[in-house]
Amino acid sequence: MKRRDEPIAVLTCYDVLFARLLEAEGVDMLLVGDSLAQVVLGYDSTLPVTMDEMLHHGRAVVRGAPHTFVVLDLPFLSYQVSIERALESAGRAMKEGGVQAVKLEGGDPDTCETVRRLVAAGIPVMGHLGLTPQSVHALGGYRVQGREAEAADRLRRQAAALEDAGCFSLVLELVPGELAREVSDELEIPTIGIGAGPHCDGQVLVLPDALGLNPGFEPRFLKRFAELGEGARAGVRMYVEEVRNRRFPGPEHTFGEEG
Ligand code: KIV
Repeated sequence: MKRRDEPIAVLTCYDVLFARLLEAEGVDMLLVGDSLAQVVLGYDSTLPVTMDEMLHHGRAVVRGAPHTFVVLDLPFLSYQVSIERALESAGRAMKEGGVQAVKLEGGDPDTCETVRRLVAAGIPVMGHLGLTPQSVHALGGYRVQGREAEAADRLRRQAAALEDAGCFSLVLELVPGELAREVSDELEIPTIGIGAGPHCDGQVLVLPDALGLNPGFEPRFLKRFAELGEGARAGVRMYVEEVRNRRFPGPEHTFGEEG
């Protein structure tokens, strides 16, 4: 798609209902992101989510979207401790999760070596640079990365190193648009941006944020493509009211004697 200059539409996904819907609407790639920790499990960062929890949701997504390319995030400390641990975690994602690829964060030499070993084992790997949420405490918060010349240079070098190590694609999160454009032009593999401007080869958003299910989260980079939260609240309000005033269930929802 990058060679054909076709923008790649990626969304995160965590369950079977949305997986079916996203596949039916032709989303190019689904990411079972470790944002699962925040938008589904209610933690305040991605750090607590476990490999077992990621697999539990990954399997549901694969069942719902059997014809779509699904990438699963390797959670915090499932790949940083050792290459063996990374191989085990990524292997579980493929064998138990049934996904087609894994994503991991960072681009230092150790991470690149891990990527090399996973790729050598036949596991497609997506990289992730810029704001890498598993390092949120080291980065000092959720803020734009690569604004200073030195940080921008490091990001360019790490992007090239991840491509060289065998990544098939690279997420760029919260980086200035011009830097994302340069990296996207320099790499042969597609970049997938979130908060990285219009010049990435594809875009990804966190599904509940994009569909208005996460009220109060309104960063600059986010566009809400639907307001499902409002619709859901109105539906629940009506249900409670109709149960309480005995309008639901009506005769049309009630089984007769005749079968
Ligand atoms: O976990 C996630 O949802 C992600 C996307 C923001 C790219 O990594």
